Amino acid sequence: MKQEREKFSGRLALLAAFAGSAIGLGNIWRFPYMAGENGGAAFIVIYLLCSLLVALPIFFTESLLGRSSGKGMVSTIKTFFNGKAGRKWCGLLIVAPLLITSFYSVVGGWALDYFIRACTGVFGRISKEEAVAFFGEYSSSVFEPIISHIIFLTITAAIVARGLKKGIEKFNNITVPMLFVLILTIVGYSCSLPGAVDGINYLLKPDFGKITPGALASAMGQSFFSLSLGVGTILVFSSYMRKDESIVTAGFFTVIFDTVFAILAGFAIIPAVFSAGIEANAGPSLVFETLPYIFASMGDVSPILSYLVPILFFLSILGAAITSEISMLEVLVEYFVEEKHLSRRKATFLCFGVCVAIGIICSLSFGPLSWIQIRGNNIFGLLDKVSSNLLMILGSLLFAVVVGWKMDRNKVRSELTNEGTNKVSVKLFPLLYFWVRYIVPVMLVLIFITNIFN
Ligand code: TRP
Repeated sequence: MKQEREKFSGRLALLAAFAGSAIGLGNIWRFPYMAGENGGAAFIVIYLLCSLLVALPIFFTESLLGRSSGKGMVSTIKTFFNGKAGRKWCGLLIVAPLLITSFYSVVGGWALDYFIRACTGVFGRISKEEAVAFFGEYSSSVFEPIISHIIFLTITAAIVARGLKKGIEKFNNITVPMLFVLILTIVGYSCSLPGAVDGINYLLKPDFGKITPGALASAMGQSFFSLSLGVGTILVFSSYMRKDESIVTAGFFTVIFDTVFAILAGFAIIPAVFSAGIEANAGPSLVFETLPYIFASMGDVSPILSYLVPILFFLSILGAAITSEISMLEVLVEYFVEEKHLSRRKATFLCFGVCVAIGIICSLSFGPLSWIQIRGNNIFGLLDKVSSNLLMILGSLLFAVVVGWKMDRNKVRSELTNEGTNKVSVKLFPLLYFWVRYIVPVMLVLIFITNIFN
């Protein structure tokens, strides 16, 4: 007997899952320094345009594929290919989520370690130089980061193994609202530090002179990564969506939650950085190198706050990373359950094992394996770039082409408009359909070519 597929229990659970997937390391770790490097508010404006004009339509295509088939990524895409060979190739689609799940977990492990360290109050006792040196020593060491990576994946796998309602929903419903409370608390603290005003101004006053083609490409890549597009996350979650939910509404809300959270993270980080007199464009290591020190040492006002804020900050990174990791691991687990007929537990265990192994190599690529450099990247950097700059774009292109050119137009319309009952999407549909068929693929090809040459 075929089991009925689990569905999200309601709209809030669905939104928590999408927002939980979208809000992650990308928002806290990458967005603030990208905004810092690329003109503050100007970058935010460009980012919003990218999210609405390119990323959101792709969200719609990915989501409607999943909901209409009620199946996972590989099973869904397979139905659009006739030949046996073509269908076989579809299995390769799980390579991208496999790589991302693995290297993402390494950074998740760092967050876990830093959270524990913050609890011991260590960041209040070190100098700026020590904080920077500490991250270098830590990330290049062998055992600690690997152990944290394994614990991080174990937590995620334990949630995913319990299934949609008992595991994923339960965790997201509590964690996602908590993330907003945490980040707002940190914004309050950060903006009250002496000298924070300059940072706030920086984020509010756009400097369009800094918007170069490179900044545009960064904004584009960031909006893809942040909305978890192109590797099946949205597709698989949408396959658990009931037919009476609106894809268009879910997509809009996901973009709003994700962007608001990213901007809040900017206000949590940049004012503190200005307050400490550090350059805003301090790069990706900002969050792990200088920030713990800044948070812990700047709050002369109250020693309790300067002890608590780093804890809350790393707790928010950790929570955001777990909810995102869940959504990626689910793509893999769902594949092995549906296509290879494993039980959910066995499938989770298998994916866990493979991701632990790949993650270990990524983690070592900061230390003993750092001599392996491919075009200036270590293994971690390479996997990050290949998946974010190439595989996610290719995946998105595939979804857009399948929906725009292979799927029946009436079917697309009926999914997007809930059979004509959703008034807003009925009005939007002709434009949206044109956009998905012509504009989005052209843009994706352009982005892909730009990224290859970079
Ligand atoms: N969106 C998450 C972030 O911002 C990461 C993430 C989750 C992701 N699922 C994904 C990235 C799928 C790429 C593809 O951190």
